[in-house]
Formats: sequence, structure tokens, C-alpha cells
Amino acid sequence: MDIFVIKGGVPLSGSCRASGAKNAVLPEMAAALLADGPVEIVGVPALRDISTFGKLLGILGAEVTRGPDATGRETLRIVPVPASTAEAPYDLVKTMRASVLVLGPLLARYGRARISLPGGCAIGARPIDQHLKGLELLGAKTSLAEGYIEATADRLTGAPVRFDVKTVTGTENLMMAATLAEGTTVLSNAAHEPEVCDLARLLRRMGADIEGDGTDEIVVRGVRSLRGTRHEVMADRIEAATLLVAGAITGGDVTVEGADPSRMGAVLDKLRESGAEVTGTPGGVRVTRTGPIRSVNVKTAPYPGFPTDMQAQFMAYMCLGDGFSIISETIFENRFMHVAELRRMGAQIDVSGNTAAVKGVPKLSGAPLMATDLRASASLVLAGLAASGTTEVLRIYHLDRGYDTLESKLRYLGADIARVKE
Ligand code: EPU
Repeated sequence: MDIFVIKGGVPLSGSCRASGAKNAVLPEMAAALLADGPVEIVGVPALRDISTFGKLLGILGAEVTRGPDATGRETLRIVPVPASTAEAPYDLVKTMRASVLVLGPLLARYGRARISLPGGCAIGARPIDQHLKGLELLGAKTSLAEGYIEATADRLTGAPVRFDVKTVTGTENLMMAATLAEGTTVLSNAAHEPEVCDLARLLRRMGADIEGDGTDEIVVRGVRSLRGTRHEVMADRIEAATLLVAGAITGGDVTVEGADPSRMGAVLDKLRESGAEVTGTPGGVRVTRTGPIRSVNVKTAPYPGFPTDMQAQFMAYMCLGDGFSIISETIFENRFMHVAELRRMGAQIDVSGNTAAVKGVPKLSGAPLMATDLRASASLVLAGLAASGTTEVLRIYHLDRGYDTLESKLRYLGADIARVKE
């Protein structure tokens, strides 16, 4: 297993480029199952979750290849072929919950899907009841046997679907299923996340009739078939925000090329409130910090609120604030696994329920740390960059699920970080 060894205390400076967004690529790979021809996704990052999803599509009968396109951009090419099996096995689903995204497309295209029911994960129980409820409203029959969800439908029929909670992959699953349904589906209380809009953009290119993505109500008018196309994936707003916080926590000057400030408003506002200077550049976002870190309160919320996927990283930053910061996690019930590790570096954090009270300390000190999930790992790396002495982050395979060569980007910005074999 690889670990990161970080010698902290170096202010980062310079610019690096945001990779393509993991949480957009995954549903877009699933959407390829709906097409009659090849779908190419351009600007795909090198991530473990994406290769796992490629394996899953392979099991379902699709041909998945990747490599640079004519302009040198990393491109995934997915050739959907009639499913030899419509089954997502436990071995894959247990390593990646996003596997559930093939449910809607398989059902819409082949009338049948059998998917291992994802269990709980490190950050919470994460049920999929809203996905199932929506598909049933479109006429699917679902049942659970031997740990698998089995869903069947002759042809899905459009219907009004109101989500009880805002769910990102739930909205995506239903939007995909509805594209080939008979008639019109109206998804209410839909997720507004930019990744949902990026998926809608791909589906429209494939010939789908979708309106209202990015709002509470998405209207999908079913069509008979969808075609292959080529699509450039949006930049990863969470990776970009993580790199900007790396600039701010080290008192540096970092520009992330490709970052879109219009999709990062909540995080950029909090960075400004914390005393960092944030400016839009022609192709990205720049952050600098020279003064003290002001403690600010953060409450996670569905987009356009503060993303849960940035909570852990921002908490690492607030550990060095000049006062108290209250951080509330409202999306997942167990997303404070980084707290115990940050405390090992000298952070002062009290947790009560879904709220963490962070009392800023003047400095953190390097320590050996254990990564527990993707974003928690990123927060430990950020803390290590700002800490005095050496930090070792173990189990960075969690980080490799969602950050494309993070250490190379950080090294390019001047960080002293190395990936070594344990
Ligand atoms: N929920 C339900 N029932 C459902 C679906 C969701 O109760 O049927 C609840 C969840 O338990 C949670 C809340 O609704 O409390 C929101 O969950 P959501 O469904 O939106 O999460 P997700 O779609 O499973 C995606 C991202 C996550 C990100 C969340 C929230 C992908 C592949 N994953 O998950 O990304 O944290 O939205 O923004 O898009 C990550 O990248 O580190 C990551 C975990």
C-alpha cells in the first residue's frame, strides 16, 4: 500500500489544472449504456473509481477503452452492446456505491437490471429508496432477493416523481431512465448539482429531450432511441476547491486553471470570509492569503450550498483559525472520521452529533495518520501541508479513488510530498 510523506510548512505557489469531474464522469459512463452507438467522454481523470466503473460496464457487455484523442486529451470510448448480463455483482458494488447508476439505464434500455444492494459505507447508511421509488413510479417492478435488487419493466412510462430528499445519483438515475420512457416524466425536488447538469448536457447531445436541469423541476420527454456522441466533461469543482484550500492553508498563492467560479460560489465565499483573497482569472480561480486565518462557520447543504465533499478539507483549514468555527454536516451522518486524525496533529475539535466545534490552534504538528475515506484523506493531506514536521498519510488508496495525481499537482506548486510504498 502506498503512503504519502509530507514535510509541511511550505507556502504553495503557482498554477495547476483541474482534472475532469469524477462525479460527472461516473453517471456519464452509465448513460453510455442508453446509446445505440459509441459515446466518447473527453477529459477523463485517471481514478480508481473510473476504472472500477469501466470494469462494471465490461461485465454488462460494453467495450470500454481509454487513451488520448487527436488533441491529446484523455478520452473514454464506450461502445454499448446488447447486455449479455444485466447484473452488477456484489464484488464491484461493495467497492463503489456509484455502481447503482447503471440501474436506470439498464432498466430503460433492456427492461431488466439486477444490482447488488449497496451496503452502508464509511460516511453513512446511504439508502437508495428514492431511486427505487422513482423507478417504480415509472412502472418498474422491484424486489430484493439474496442481497440483490431485481428490477423489471416492459417499457417504462413517464410519470411525476417527487423526491422526498434531494439526491444527486437518485436524480441522475431517474433522469437517465426517463429518457427512453413512454411519455413525460417530471422530477420534482431534483438535485441542482452541476454534475447533474453536465449529465443532462451529454444526454441532450445523445438526443434526449430534457429541460430544467439545475432547478427543482426537471422535465424529461421520452424518445425512442439515443445515439452515440462525444462530450467534454466539466472540471472537478471539488478537486479544484481542495487545491485552493491547499493554497489558503499554507498562506500561499495558487491558481487552479479550468476551475469554474460560478459552480464554486459557496466555497469561494467561505474562503473570502476566512481572510483569503479570491479572484477569477481568465481561465480559472486564484487564491492568496497573507493575513491570519479567520475562523468561520460552515454548514453543508445540497448545491448551491456548501458541499459535503469539502467539509473535511475546510475543517482542516479551520483547525488553524484565529477563533471558534462551528462546522455542521447535514448530508451524511458519519462524515467526521477525519476528526480523530486531526486531533492527533494537535487540533482542538469537539464533536456533538452532526456538529464539530473547532477551536483554532496556532500550529499543527506532523504525525502518522490513517485515511478513512476519500475526502477525509484530502483533509489530512491539507493539514500535513500546513503542519510543522513530517506527516505520513496511510491508506491513500481512498484518495486515489477521486484525486488524479494529487501529489504531482501539489509538488508542482512547491509542496514537499512523496508517494512511497509502505
Ligand atoms: N438518500 C436517501 N435515500 C436515497 C438517496 C439518498 O435517504 O435514495 C440520502 C443520503 O443518505 C444522504 C442524502 O440523501 O443523506 C444525499 O445523498 P445523495 O443521494 O445526494 O448522495 P449520492 O448521490 O450517493 C453523491 C456523490 C457524493 C456526494 C453526494 C452529496 C456521486 C457518485 N457521489 O452521492 O460524492 O457526497 O452526492 O453531494 O456523485 C465523494 O465524491 O466523495 C462523494 C461521496
